[in-house]
Amino acid sequence: MRLDIFSLFPEAFDWLQTQRPVQNALKEGNELRLFNYRDSTPLTGRQVDDAPYGGGAGMVLRVDVIDASLQAAYGEGVRPRIVLLTPTGRLLDDELADELVSERHVALLCGRYEGFDERVHEHFADDEVSIGRYVLAGGEMPAMVVADVVMRKLPGALGHERSAVEESFSQVLEGMPEYPHYTRPAQYRGWSVPDVLVSGDHERVRLWRMEQSRARAEQFEKNPE
Ligand code: 6GU
Repeated sequence: MRLDIFSLFPEAFDWLQTQRPVQNALKEGNELRLFNYRDSTPLTGRQVDDAPYGGGAGMVLRVDVIDASLQAAYGEGVRPRIVLLTPTGRLLDDELADELVSERHVALLCGRYEGFDERVHEHFADDEVSIGRYVLAGGEMPAMVVADVVMRKLPGALGHERSAVEESFSQVLEGMPEYPHYTRPAQYRGWSVPDVLVSGDHERVRLWRMEQSRARAEQFEKNPE
């Protein structure tokens, strides 16, 4: 797939691009492109925002600036699925991530300041996505969260192909949290690893893990936070 990220701070995504799952996904032929709204703004002095009509605090990203950046990236060609990062959007979960990863081409638009002019929401956005019910200073960290969860689902992104399939909230685990993991040492300060995991009985291990996932799911339902 191709993932485009529009932002006032494309350099914020440098770290993301050093991450192994992202590098693996790119080697598999996927693409990650970054766009700076300022590079295509029709305004002088690289201006991208303006004071809100009706007054009030903060600045608003202009609709003509967003239009110009999409025009510069895509022209009259086919547009990707355009996803606005906004605190009031649809809450990101594994299901939404699956939806995005099944797209051939997705664009993430990061806001800053007081957000986008409402006409961006109305005329350019296919989706609006939030990563939680709290307000961050900008959409860059949320976009990074979306990019991480989506790219690690791409074939070849994780070294171990099963890891993404059988992880917390996945369909394989029937949407349940993942079972607990243990590694060496088997004994540490009197804290021991469950016997079943060192039994060598793969069927018993599988059943134990499903049981553990189910117990965690019950806990999770009682207290989703
Ligand atoms: Cl997508 N943006 C901002 N600014 N704050 C958020 C968010 C997005 N999701 C949760 N908080």
